[in-house]
Amino acid sequence: MTTVPKVALVTGATQGLGLALVEALAQRLSPEDTVYLTGRSLDRVTEAVAATPAGGARVRGEILDVTTPDAAERLAAELAGRHGGVDIVFGNAVMRVGPDDDPRLIVDAYADVNNFGTTRVLRAFAPRLRDDGRLIVVASSLGTLHYLAPVLHHHFDGLPTLDAVDKEVAAWRDAVRDGSARGTAWPGFVNIPSKIGQVAAVRALAGQRRAADAARDILLAAVCPGMMRTATSALWWDVSDAPTPAQAAVPLVELALGPVEPEHYGELVRDGQVLPWAVG
Ligand SMILES: NC(=O)c1ccc[n+]([C@@H]2O[C@H](COP(=O)([O-])OP(=O)(O)OC[C@H]3O[C@@H](n4cnc5c(N)ncnc54)[C@H](OP(=O)(O)O)[C@@H]3O)[C@@H](O)[C@H]2O)c1
Repeated sequence: MTTVPKVALVTGATQGLGLALVEALAQRLSPEDTVYLTGRSLDRVTEAVAATPAGGARVRGEILDVTTPDAAERLAAELAGRHGGVDIVFGNAVMRVGPDDDPRLIVDAYADVNNFGTTRVLRAFAPRLRDDGRLIVVASSLGTLHYLAPVLHHHFDGLPTLDAVDKEVAAWRDAVRDGSARGTAWPGFVNIPSKIGQVAAVRALAGQRRAADAARDILLAAVCPGMMRTATSALWWDVSDAPTPAQAAVPLVELALGPVEPEHYGELVRDGQVLPWAVG
């Protein structure tokens, strides 16, 4: 029996966890397989591809700026034409912000990369997944309702579609930008609503695709990599003792290459365990 070569893609893969995911996928896959290392800058993509260790799958670079409205859709269509479909996608891109950034000034760009970028990737790649495919959004343990005041839960709980998630994220973004979120129950740390919005997007799409995906062994999930030593986390915390991106990538790649655990479907997973969306 001949096996179809696998195709994997990682967004925001020029550094940090994204680059580690590309390297780990390439090492675990075979020479006939392809791993797409994508990013927003041609120079950084080219440099990262050139620095990828040899062995395993072929690593190819592609430009994918997740804030460009049709870019994910165009690339997904192109890869489907080139390979017949896609097997593994990690939505990992994140905009780097630091403690000194004024949330009102960065929230537009932040939501565009982290949230609308995620829903663009989900919309583009979900229809192109082959049987046994994996569509995984890198979120965080902060992406559960536990981190949001109960009075705000209705904004993200039980949303039926990606459009509905985008609408709620846009309303939160607008409230941060115009200052009306200040002094209310919204957390000042923009990472929290943004990560909850990412997990809400996975949950919404999972609600629509669950039965069809189960029949085809497809996994759609959000993951938490845990605290890692990257340039982004170093802006906020002392991460000198934290795991490297390569270490953090191990359980994520296992999720991408191992058998599908039905309880992971549509959930936020950390080290193979589901983190409950809502307490109680
Ligand atoms: N670091 C942690 O401790 C931690 C903890 C929990 C969750 N996470 C999550 O893990 C993921 C990776 O984090 P990280 O720390 O590895 O981040 P990172 O080192 O800052 O890397 C972010 C990546 O996203 C890319 N990016 C930024 N804007 C983009 C855009 N518009 N389109 C496409 N790519 C874009 C960056 O590209 P450039 O090279 O061009 O800037 C870079 O490759 C994120 O989702 C993050 O929230 C991280």
